[in-house]
Amino acid sequence: MQTSAERDRLIGMAREAATGAYAPYSRFHVGAALLFADGSVVTGANVENASYGLSLCAETVAVSAAMAAGRRGGLVAVAVIGGIGGVFGETVTPCGRCRQVLNELAQSGDTDPVIWCAGGEGVFETRLSALLPHAFGPANLGQA
Ligand code: THU
Repeated sequence: MQTSAERDRLIGMAREAATGAYAPYSRFHVGAALLFADGSVVTGANVENASYGLSLCAETVAVSAAMAAGRRGGLVAVAVIGGIGGVFGETVTPCGRCRQVLNELAQSGDTDPVIWCAGGEGVFETRLSALLPHAFGPANLGQA
């Protein structure tokens, strides 16, 4: 169970990560921060592409960075925040693809991370299992 201080800290790190967004096409800057059981945090920002469909979301960039650094499982919380031009308004929930990408990391450690969706004000708190019920994942392929 995370405290509100941990929540605010992780959202702050997502907000900071959003400053690294490369979003010249949508101008929608997104930051994501992943909190692991050992207290470490891995962040990411969205990286767009002139071939629009190749753009990467902040959550996917963060999961990729974590897994490429050798992380498996231990994902306890995720914060995501976004807004046009880096001005945060409505809360942002992870897109469908990112839910599946997050699920790979979560299921590899059998956790159901809390997801903090932040914006200009207020935080929508949910769980990955609520955003992606009946998920297909590593277990379906006989993996951990
Ligand atoms: N985006 C994210 O980074 N995460 C999400 O969960 C939703 C969308 C990005 C993708 C694209 O660069 C921009 O926001 C507009 O869709």
